[in-house]
Amino acid sequence: MGVAERSALIKLLELQSDWGADEALLDAAQDRRGRAAAVERAEPILAPRRAAVAATGGSVDLSHIHDLDALRAALAAFEGCALKRTATQLVFADGAAAPLVLLIGEAPGAEEDRVGRPFVGPAGQLLDRMLGSIALDRGNVRIINAVPWRPPGNRTPSEAEINQCLPFLWRHIALVRPRAVLLLGAVAVRAVLGRPMPITKIRGQWQEIIVPDGNDALPVLPTFHPAYLLRKPEAKREAWADLLALRRRIDL
Ligand code: URA
Repeated sequence: MGVAERSALIKLLELQSDWGADEALLDAAQDRRGRAAAVERAEPILAPRRAAVAATGGSVDLSHIHDLDALRAALAAFEGCALKRTATQLVFADGAAAPLVLLIGEAPGAEEDRVGRPFVGPAGQLLDRMLGSIALDRGNVRIINAVPWRPPGNRTPSEAEINQCLPFLWRHIALVRPRAVLLLGAVAVRAVLGRPMPITKIRGQWQEIIVPDGNDALPVLPTFHPAYLLRKPEAKREAWADLLALRRRIDL
């Protein structure tokens, strides 16, 4: 093993210990002879209820949009959300076009607004470390926000603003068809699952969504927003459990 690889592994171990992983054991015994079956037995992956919904949230018809470039162009031309007028630029997406996981955040902050890429500020740096801890990175995930323009002063986007941007969010999900979706925080939960829910109640519980024009249900996992984890480090233990559940789901 090379020095760089060694130091990356040490960083990951540090992150995990930081996050409350104090022993190399999982909650449930692992039957290595039948990996997927063991995971199914240890933890029912999908909640039985079908939480979300093919809500398209408005009158924008994007059914003629069949690729990400066209989606970006349509969003850039969209005048139906006033946040566009106060933001510096559109923050469309970062990462793979055919990702294993689609991560959905809230809205760009000051740094993202300046650079034009989601999650490049302090929360983004933590997010990158979180992804690295389960062997993911921006080469195999895609990162977007519920709202692609920065709200002034970093305020939470309003219900109306979330709804105005919703058709683009659903089209984005439909176009990239990830294996799973990770919802980062309450705004992403509200946008994708269609109703406000306290993140502390719903985090870690798998949901399903039916994407308009899609066929199969997509597994969706709500978890804490990395900005919340920066403010409340004691929640990292639960976030770590969510990341492990996500890794298990995409490995099935
Ligand atoms: N927080 C978010 O929800 N999204 C970003 O892109 C940056 C910070």
